[in-house]
Amino acid sequence: MREIGLSKEEVIQELRLRLEGDLSFTDGRILGSMCTYPHEFAQLVFLMNIEKNLGDPGLFPQTAELEKETISMLGELLSNPNACGHIVTGGTEANILALWTAKRLRGNEFRNEVIVPESAHFSFDKAADLLGLKLVKVPLDSRFRVSIEDVERTINSRTLAIVGIAGTTGLGVVDPIDRLSELAVEHDLYLHVDAAFGGFLLPFLKELGYEAPKFDFSLEGVSSITVDPHKMGLVPIPAGGILFRNKEIYSTTAWRVSYMAGGETTQATLVGTRSGAAAIATWAMLNHLGRKGYRDIVKRCMELTLWFVEKVKSLDFIDIVVPPVMNIVGIKTEGVEIQAVAQKLRAKGWAIALFPSHIRIVIMPHVRKSHLEKFLNDLQEVIKSLGASKP
Ligand SMILES: Cc1ncc(COP(=O)(O)O)c(C=O)c1O
Repeated sequence: MREIGLSKEEVIQELRLRLEGDLSFTDGRILGSMCTYPHEFAQLVFLMNIEKNLGDPGLFPQTAELEKETISMLGELLSNPNACGHIVTGGTEANILALWTAKRLRGNEFRNEVIVPESAHFSFDKAADLLGLKLVKVPLDSRFRVSIEDVERTINSRTLAIVGIAGTTGLGVVDPIDRLSELAVEHDLYLHVDAAFGGFLLPFLKELGYEAPKFDFSLEGVSSITVDPHKMGLVPIPAGGILFRNKEIYSTTAWRVSYMAGGETTQATLVGTRSGAAAIATWAMLNHLGRKGYRDIVKRCMELTLWFVEKVKSLDFIDIVVPPVMNIVGIKTEGVEIQAVAQKLRAKGWAIALFPSHIRIVIMPHVRKSHLEKFLNDLQEVIKSLGASKP
């Protein structure tokens, strides 16, 4: 570290140079991310509240109140305005909190197996490792949703929890959460729904007349839901969300802290010091956009997604993996290795997500038709250059 600091101008100049190679959501090359350029109003509110620390809510009681209201608004969106929870660092922390809660609720009972679909996000692997739990990964059906028969067959006396995904990371499909809920009720098991991505879409898809399977607290067996404002909520990072069905479940991980400057408190999150700005920015966005604002954003993303799907279907050597439920499209190739295609596309500057047998495109609000047109041109060129041929 320097003895004498640089001027602000010098630092900014250096940063400009050092960060030049980072991609930007505005340059049209990021087609594989679940994040986007945060809404300008959310950025402003975030900056206005930069010092708020929800780890010490006694100092910022009104921020804590706004966080509660935010959770209640998200709860209302997910059919339970009485839900309790927090704005956390992201989907990973939310999923860890859910499994931690499931474990603590069982006390000393020996239950260590968590049933997850094969499509579950790797945050569950992290959670299981941290919590000393065993993930039992269940195969998917022909529509890439968890196979209910296999979940049912897997439940045993060591089962601690079941996880269902509402918007899978790879393809954006929704597991049959209604059936998982029935199983959870029947076997008295904790059911966590990972709607990190889908939670900000499904309620609006339904209002727009798209098919949107049930996934939320309206299903009796659902104990908790992950829903991330820093994905389709357009809030700056870090803004994840964890919602529990009721206070009893929520308070399972509450830790008493006595020494805080703001007075004795409890913390039910993994991290201690945490961003009040993220919670306030989420509150601000929910109030600023309202249901209609979010619905309009989802509408535009879906219309573009469906246009893109038709284009993909009309081209040689590529196809979609499954009809999209939300703004996530899986592209598979015929006659050429998907890995080779992805490598060439990346070399051309495209930031796409690569899964074992498909490329994932996420039509986030920053994606324009012109970006997708350029991408499809490059994709065709790449496939040609790899010598694709009909079998
Ligand atoms: C379904 C799902 N859950 C959880 C996560 C993890 O979220 P984060 O990266 O905010 O920790 C993701 C991230 O892509 C996801 O797709």
